[in-house]
Amino acid sequence: MQLIEALQRRYATKAFDATKKLPETVVEQLFALLRLSPSSTNIQPWHFIVASTDEGKARLAQGAGGNYSYNAGKILNASHVVLFCARTQIDDAHLQKVLAAEERDGRFASAPEVKAAAHNTRLAYLNEHKFTKKDVPHWLEKQVYLNMGSFLLGAGLLGIDAVPLEGIDQTILDAEFGLNERDLTAITAVALGYRAETDFNAALPKSRLAAEDIFTVI
Ligand SMILES: Cc1cc2nc3c(=O)[nH]c(=O)nc-3n(C[C@H](O)[C@H](O)[C@H](O)COP(=O)(O)O)c2cc1C
Repeated sequence: MQLIEALQRRYATKAFDATKKLPETVVEQLFALLRLSPSSTNIQPWHFIVASTDEGKARLAQGAGGNYSYNAGKILNASHVVLFCARTQIDDAHLQKVLAAEERDGRFASAPEVKAAAHNTRLAYLNEHKFTKKDVPHWLEKQVYLNMGSFLLGAGLLGIDAVPLEGIDQTILDAEFGLNERDLTAITAVALGYRAETDFNAALPKSRLAAEDIFTVI
């Protein structure tokens, strides 16, 4: 599918056809999208809980009660739901895990000193956010949102319907999945599958601000 076509076709799906499931070949590509997303200094401060069973989706739907109940049906009827979680802090174990992965993947084959440089750069960025900007959780959360953005585009290019769900109770989901104990917190979810014929939002035209309102070309 061409890019513009995919951008126009994708929309925030409000009702999913519960009888339609994503094929495994698509699910594999969705996992690749999540894993291959870029992040600042390749810090990869995320974890993804992927629900495809009724039981899994019911657990996630616990975060869509009360004020968020308008999102429960989307979670329960979607084929798959991804809960995007962010690390709340970066400890040395995480830094070493990223460094080991880069080494395993051959990033330091040309010269061994590249390994120390990669680590030092990552640590310098982390320390800037820790001690100067004092915004580590916010910085890490931004990386997760970036991942979600490319995930939505990728899903659209694959012809998969999706809706991002910021309307979830992070505290409930943190407790349900024991996230805080693992230095993680729930950020947002994306429900994926195929639109129901009854979805009112599918027929509505896409609406965006005018180009002259948002671009300054110099
Ligand atoms: C970060 C984010 C959070 C969102 N949260 C919700 C949500 O909780 N429930 C929902 O139905 N739509 C949600 N949306 C969908 C937006 O309302 C929708 O993307 C926007 O109106 C633009 O419409 P379009 O995606 O159909 O082009 C969210 C979108 C984004 C990007």
